[in-house]
Amino acid sequence: MEIIVKENYQEMSLYTAEMVADLVRRKPDCVIGFATGRTPVGTYQELIRLHKAGLDFSGIRAFNLDEYLGIGRDMSKPYDQDQSYARFMYEELFRHINVKEENIHIPDGLAKDPDAFCAAYEQEISKAGGIDLQILGIGGDGHWGFNEPGASLSSRTRVENLTAQTLDDNYEAFYRKAGIPREQMPTQAITMGIGTILEARNLIMIANGSKKAGIIAKALQGPVTSAVTASAIQLYTGKAVVVLDREAASALRNLK
Ligand code: F6R
Repeated sequence: MEIIVKENYQEMSLYTAEMVADLVRRKPDCVIGFATGRTPVGTYQELIRLHKAGLDFSGIRAFNLDEYLGIGRDMSKPYDQDQSYARFMYEELFRHINVKEENIHIPDGLAKDPDAFCAAYEQEISKAGGIDLQILGIGGDGHWGFNEPGASLSSRTRVENLTAQTLDDNYEAFYRKAGIPREQMPTQAITMGIGTILEARNLIMIANGSKKAGIIAKALQGPVTSAVTASAIQLYTGKAVVVLDREAASALRNLK
């Protein structure tokens, strides 16, 4: 695993976007795993800028990590009723680049049979030839995707119950400002499993801010444990790059 420490969020985002752009240039039909959340927004803004400057996303295939159960790709709903990750991805990235609609895959939080959907999602990833580069954040409780503490490190795409910490974090980040009462926030999600994520050929994990410092140190330098599912990065055998700002890196030991 390679750990890159950048001075601030902006630099972290530029570096991450450049890694993604480099893959898109080298392999125009690459398969990219996308994450939502606050952390990748700067990266997506830079990818949009690169697209305006000519970067072509028309061949890429996109697979998102996760989606809340009970909401989803219903674009007819007004913004304040829909905090789906599908909407987030369209607002923050997909709508602004030339990725083809048929190449966008996002777990369907409105699926009638979520378990069957999860099995089919795994098959779609396999049919695409696997994920070339998976972008990851890290939750305050150490989750990757919505693989909450206790999730098996070999888990596959499935429905997961969200922890109180994740609900609190995401309520503050997204739901409160949309004026949605806490009780209306979905408490379950569809997520790629840790086993699914570890099959990607490259990982890039990003984190910023002092709030993430403790959990970053646990994930990268603590015991590998299902209590911190992102610690599975230590088992990963492909190329993993962790891009942090100085604050998120501040609790790491022996950084070169
Ligand atoms: C989002 C996701 C989550 C986030 C994590 C961090 O698709 O899978 O694991 O990466 O919750 O969220 P932020 O970036 O908002 O701190």
